[in-house]
Amino acid sequence: MSTLRIQGLRVEVAGQEVLTGFDLTMNSGEVHVIMGPNGSGKSTLAHAISGRPGYKVLEGSVTIDGTELLTLEPSERARLGLLLALQQPLEVPGVRPIDLLAAAGVARNGLADAMRGEAIRVELRPEVLDRFVNVDLSGGERKRAEMVQLGVLKPKFAILDEIDSGLDVDALGAVARRLSAATTEWGCGVLAITHFRRLLNEMTPTKIHVVSGGKVVATGGPELADVLERDGYEPFRSPRH
Ligand SMILES: Nc1ncnc2c1ncn2[C@@H]1O[C@H](COP(=O)(O)OP(=O)(O)OP(=O)(O)O)[C@@H](O)[C@H]1O
Ligand SMILES: [Mg+2]
Repeated sequence: MSTLRIQGLRVEVAGQEVLTGFDLTMNSGEVHVIMGPNGSGKSTLAHAISGRPGYKVLEGSVTIDGTELLTLEPSERARLGLLLALQQPLEVPGVRPIDLLAAAGVARNGLADAMRGEAIRVELRPEVLDRFVNVDLSGGERKRAEMVQLGVLKPKFAILDEIDSGLDVDALGAVARRLSAATTEWGCGVLAITHFRRLLNEMTPTKIHVVSGGKVVATGGPELADVLERDGYEPFRSPRH
């Protein structure tokens, strides 16, 4: 069993403090969901944890089983068992998905078959994986291709930023079921950022966290999604925003 711990994370972007003391702890096999208004810092959290340049960590820590990630090179963070699926997946011309996975340390033997199997699970035409990473893929195909990476890499923790955006309703169900299966297949801890409770229809969250003004302002069980759907974020808004 592993633990991902985000503690007192403060991050500055373009001269502005966007994360203002973010705390979240989760264990293997759990599904945690982050919801919150536009601009509240959700993607900034994903970018900062991925080590993207321009996201300056002022304070705080992000650890897996006590090992600090924020001082490691981005590739080392992946090797520790962290997978990040960004809101806007990046195109990598000249690199095919299979090469990316091999570079991440997956054995080439049987890899193409494994990718094909994962593609079918999320209803992605496997031929799409022969193209360069994310180049000429539709929005929904990019999101499904991220799930192929997840299925092959089997990370300890996956942080998924709006994995549901751009997915049609059938794909949404397939992706949610794949994520849910990952939590039991290898105990993947899933941290999903989303605006829509639809994603939760086939994936029961352990906890839902409401983010406002760059920090978690409320945490609850699955029922919190219904409260948000009914009342919106106004009751949770922090004074800063
Ligand atoms: N690279 C950047 N340069 C300048 N400002 C940025 C940058 N990245 C984020 N910001 C600002 O930081 C704030 C938080 O952005 P972020 O993308 O984290 O929001 P979010 O919660 O993911 O919103 P959404 O729900 O719309 O995806 C916003 O005001 C945004 O304009
Ligand atoms: Mg975002």
